[in-house]
Amino acid sequence: SPYWPGLIEAYRHRLPVGPATPVVTLQEGATPLLPAPELSRRTGCEVWLKVEGANPTGSFKDRGMTMAISKAVEEGAQAVICASTGNTSASAAAYAARAGLVCAVLVPQGKIATGKLAQALVHGAKLLQVEGNFDDCLALASKLAIDYPVSLVNSVNQYRIEGQKTASFEIVDVLGDAPDVHCLPVGNAGNITAYWQGYREYAADGPATRTPKMWGFQAAGAAPIVTGRVVDRPETIATAIRIGNPASWTKALDARDASGGRIDAVTDRAILAAYRLLARSEAVFVEPASAASVAGLLQVAEAGGLEPGQRVVCTVTGNGLKDPEWAISGAPAPVTIPVDAAAAAAQLGL
Ligand code: F0G
Repeated sequence: SPYWPGLIEAYRHRLPVGPATPVVTLQEGATPLLPAPELSRRTGCEVWLKVEGANPTGSFKDRGMTMAISKAVEEGAQAVICASTGNTSASAAAYAARAGLVCAVLVPQGKIATGKLAQALVHGAKLLQVEGNFDDCLALASKLAIDYPVSLVNSVNQYRIEGQKTASFEIVDVLGDAPDVHCLPVGNAGNITAYWQGYREYAADGPATRTPKMWGFQAAGAAPIVTGRVVDRPETIATAIRIGNPASWTKALDARDASGGRIDAVTDRAILAAYRLLARSEAVFVEPASAASVAGLLQVAEAGGLEPGQRVVCTVTGNGLKDPEWAISGAPAPVTIPVDAAAAAAQLGL
């Protein structure tokens, strides 16, 4: 049927919800799985994009948040809290508004994209900018959730992972089986954990015959999982994944190793190149962090690490409208003309 009730109703039998769970939904999920002809041509593979920017608040976080907020309400919470590089706070603010909960968010000062800040504010969250990075914000939010009556809705909350695993279900439901390779950006490492859980569940009891190799990509200036050391001062233009001490670090290693996959670093330059390629050639406007999955795929392919003919899915995690700075600064300034057809034609080279 053309009606999509949101992912909890769609996958209720595979989620920890019961008849008493009040479902808080913005009809998230059922995002496009879009063929990517230019990436397919460049890699010799069959590449698809899972376009998570098409979710209600413009990122994959909505999958986790419908679950986390529904369970918070079920458990009688009055208030929720999260640390965020921007998207989690945008999503938490929206779902909390829908549920009538108070939402508190802690973000690193000056390091979140303007669109994401706008989302948290417009949905009425109580926003504090912290003089520290995301890792500091998460430590603070976790402490507050222990000492005060407020539930933590970061991805250390297992309900977030449960919701986010449905992206793997949707991919298998469309393709008929798991792909050979799944690429995604890695920050706090909740999403790679969630996808891996989803793929394993589907392979364990029916819909899929196998699991994919999980390929995660971190920004080179914020790549603790790649180097094996906490990064005290993470730096990258991809602010969403500017994280030096991921909460789900060991789970990401497990997804990598159990799937026969990899977690590599990609430079900001490669991220921006992939960001522009996605917009120009595939017509998908993503935020910079999202392009890390595609930058990583191209990097591995160029190094000869990708067998041609495979089926590859890249998750592009967030909508480009959240963080348009790189779209504008990378383009020539628009020319101004009088109200005159000849002047327009001259400028357009017609
Ligand atoms: N892509 C985007 C657009 C993100 O916002 C995030 C994480 C990731 C990728 C990485 O996902 O953390 O599960 O490995 N954003 C979090 C936030 C940290 O606060 O919005 P991850």
